[in-house]
Amino acid sequence: MILDCDPGHDDAFALIVAAKFADLLGVTTVAGNAPLELTTRNARIILDLCGSRAALHSGANKPLVQPPVFADYVHGKSGMDGAVLPEPSRPADSTRAIDFIIDTVRANSDVWLVPTGPLTNIALALTRAPDLAKRIAGISLMGGGRLGNRTPTAEFNIWLDPEAAATVFSCGAPITMAGLHLTHEFQASPTRIAAVEASHPRVGSLLAGLLRFFSKSYVDRHVGFVGPAMHDVCSVLALTHAHLFESSQKFVAVDVNGNHTRGMTVIDDRQLVQRPAATATVLERIDADAGFAAICEAVAACP
Ligand code: BDR
Ligand code: CA
Repeated sequence: MILDCDPGHDDAFALIVAAKFADLLGVTTVAGNAPLELTTRNARIILDLCGSRAALHSGANKPLVQPPVFADYVHGKSGMDGAVLPEPSRPADSTRAIDFIIDTVRANSDVWLVPTGPLTNIALALTRAPDLAKRIAGISLMGGGRLGNRTPTAEFNIWLDPEAAATVFSCGAPITMAGLHLTHEFQASPTRIAAVEASHPRVGSLLAGLLRFFSKSYVDRHVGFVGPAMHDVCSVLALTHAHLFESSQKFVAVDVNGNHTRGMTVIDDRQLVQRPAATATVLERIDADAGFAAICEAVAACP
């Protein structure tokens, strides 16, 4: 897989899980939770923490159409507040994430693209190289869902770059979607954070610090949350631990025009006998305990 991310606390854990369980061909970064320079720096730090030498390329520094907006109200100014993290040991390999995605997909069969941030890089790659949609195994993305977080109807990753999301959802490749109705079931409760902390003598406390900061953003701002939703990890686990999920096949489209619905993923849940052809695998349920066990296993594997 290629992980396209905007770390981001939950992106960081997606990276750690991918480094342990996937054939990680490379990591690309995009502006989203924080400016591109910071999401790239955070990815470099996390790759160090998990001992991965995977290629790292930065990409788009803003959405296709609208100006950038960052999620410091959730992830802090750095995009990954909550721990004193070591300086990264190496720079990014290049600023040419789009070229890296295209070249890697053309050179390898059955690559999964796993975007856990706004879909800008993926849309740019699909537009520049239309053959990609047929070459890839699919796109396992975190975004959208049956509820919103940035607006009542729109989830942050889709809301930030709806035009890019519309390109991705209509590209014709198999799409697996981890939306908010799924990821909100996957919360890092205090007990689960303690388990992460206990999983590694050195990085456990750093990662728990990150999760406790992330937790405050969620628990203080929401009713009924016991911890932060580990959204982005779901898109990796959907490939590495597919047996942990229940899913359905649905027609999904992205609204780019709506007044109250710009950035909404419209899922056709009508129970019609003759339904519109499905365009996505919508992840519906996750075995959260087993998912967290996989996270702890990945943390324990850090050097
Ligand atoms: C998504 O937005 C970001 O804050 C998270 O990293 C996740 O990708 C959830 O809406
Ligand atoms: Ca993210």
